[in-house]
Amino acid sequence: MLKSGPNHWGSVAKFFHWTIVILILAQGAIGLIMVELPKRPNVIPVFNFHKSLGLTILALAILRLAWRLFDPRPRDPPTMPRWQVLGARAGHVLLYVLIFLVPLSGWWFDSVASLRPLYWWGLVHVPPLGGPDPSNPGLKDIAAERHEMLFWILIIVAAGHAAMALIHHFHNRDNVLRRMLPFTRT
Ligand code: HEM
Ligand code: HEM
Repeated sequence: MLKSGPNHWGSVAKFFHWTIVILILAQGAIGLIMVELPKRPNVIPVFNFHKSLGLTILALAILRLAWRLFDPRPRDPPTMPRWQVLGARAGHVLLYVLIFLVPLSGWWFDSVASLRPLYWWGLVHVPPLGGPDPSNPGLKDIAAERHEMLFWILIIVAAGHAAMALIHHFHNRDNVLRRMLPFTRT
């Protein structure tokens, strides 16, 4: 079923969830490796790949949020206390915010560093988000730090979120994780 129901996540919501998880992990690994590579012209394609994949994740995040507005989430297990429901909801909102802020901060860094025009997969010109500020030469470093910091915040929040999903599955023995897994019907 494409849409979610009171007791299950629909296949579109699952597709967005797991595609974005896999792409963020791959993208984070590429980012951490590429900044360690010697600064030679042959690293430029790796940087371009990272930027295009990052913008793809941003596009997927926009589509995911748009879909979510028309596709209400399933009900929480009736045994879940109210504080846990509120905590989970706050964690989900934070994750949504971060999957926007991490790519946006990368795009911002690219704009203030202003090295080369930005092309999405070499095809579509992407306008800069602002530009270098001559009165603030350290802006580029601040933007790079923000991008890295937001990435690590996302990883920490996502790790806590994944741990909660496993607690639901193995400790509470409810269907919260099962109903989000691909190729399952609950
Ligand atoms: C969800 C999407 C993204 C993730 C998870 C991500 C992750 C990362 C990580 C982990 C690093 C290494 C940080 C460090 O150790 O210094 C990095 C660096 C970088 N990212 Fe991203 N990134 C994303 C999107 C983007 C986008 C959309 C752009 C540009 C359009 C971008 C441009 C860059 C650049 C230019 C660097 C190198 C920074 C430097 O030279 O210090 N990233 N990214
Ligand atoms: C980058 C990593 C991740 C991000 C950004 C992320 C993001 C999200 C978001 C925003 C939601 C809320 C969906 C909504 O209400 O529309 C969600 C739900 C969920 N996520 Fe993740 N997630 C990540 C990784 C994981 C991992 C690794 C697992 C499993 C081990 C997992 C399991 C779940 C489950 C079971 C739900 C449904 C919760 C419920 O029904 O209340 N997530 N995720």
